[in-house]
Amino acid sequence: MAATNSSPHIPVLLRPLLAAVAPVQGRWLDGTFGAGGYTRGLIEAGADSVIAVDRDPMAHEMAKPWAGPYGDKIIMQHGVFSKMDEYGQELDGIVLDLGVSSMQLDLAERGFSFMRDGPLDMRMSQDGPSAADLVNEASEEELANIIFLYGEERASRRIASLLVRAREEAPIVRTAELSRLVESCLPRAKPGQSHPATRTFQALRIAVNNEYGELWEGLMAAERALKPGGKLAVVTFHSVEDRMVKRFLTARAGAGGNANRFAPQVEMDAPQFTLKSRKAIGPDSQELEENPRSRSAKLRVATRTDAAAGSIDAKAIGMPMMREKKQ
Ligand SMILES: C[S@@+](CC[C@H](N)C(=O)[O-])C[C@H]1O[C@@H](n2cnc3c(N)ncnc32)[C@H](O)[C@@H]1O
Repeated sequence: MAATNSSPHIPVLLRPLLAAVAPVQGRWLDGTFGAGGYTRGLIEAGADSVIAVDRDPMAHEMAKPWAGPYGDKIIMQHGVFSKMDEYGQELDGIVLDLGVSSMQLDLAERGFSFMRDGPLDMRMSQDGPSAADLVNEASEEELANIIFLYGEERASRRIASLLVRAREEAPIVRTAELSRLVESCLPRAKPGQSHPATRTFQALRIAVNNEYGELWEGLMAAERALKPGGKLAVVTFHSVEDRMVKRFLTARAGAGGNANRFAPQVEMDAPQFTLKSRKAIGPDSQELEENPRSRSAKLRVATRTDAAAGSIDAKAIGMPMMREKKQ
């Protein structure tokens, strides 16, 4: 797919990330290659090579014009980061910069944005069921649950009910149509508030791309793929993702991993990570001015120990869980 009309993706929190993982050396994996900003930053900071993973074929296609001079320092790998331990082992470092890139968001035909009319798609991988499939085929209850759980939208039931009535007339296949329907059943946004369709679009995108499942599995895959002393750096853009990363790292660093006092005790042997700091790193005033998209970004960094890798329950790290479907 041609990436026309797309603004370049400005890497977020790259400077503090490189400072937090310094000295950069050896073999790294960038699980969210995108426009390659992190990969290039890592190589320029001293990495010998970077395995550049992205689930979107467009990301690798767009790198062709500039990646040549890097030779085998960049190893392109199409796939999902939840499988990163299949792409590399004994790694010196792993970076994840979650969410969509500006190129994906800006291309109307990818269907991520309510600002640009396009097919209701939202698939980062460009395969599997699309947002239109979900909106037209899920039950009303399932739609309401997705919009509530992944979009934190209080009017989820009202929206789901309207979508189900609308699709009885004709399938909902365009982003503008979905946006208009959502807008029609919510109060008008006050100045400074986000567009009424923001939360519904976010929810559908998270569901279509299984973003929370990918993050949970990806964190465990990173634990398996890093060598002792290897660094893990994760940049998130909203509170649910940050909570998952924070709880995962806190639990794996042996620093009180239970989601709450009623949650089952997490089995802990020796800790798998040490934390760089308990507090997340955010953008400084210069970055905020240069790139408003960095506003909600948070960076967390940890170092792998030599303890054996294990697994952790999705609930223990606060992953929002869809209710089981009624039989
Ligand atoms: C925010 S952008 C990354 C931008 C990149 N750091 C840069 O500086 O250009 C996120 C990218 O990660 C990809 N992505 C998101 N989730 C993924 C997953 N689970 N596996 C692989 N790639 C993923 C998206 O397709 C997108 O290209």
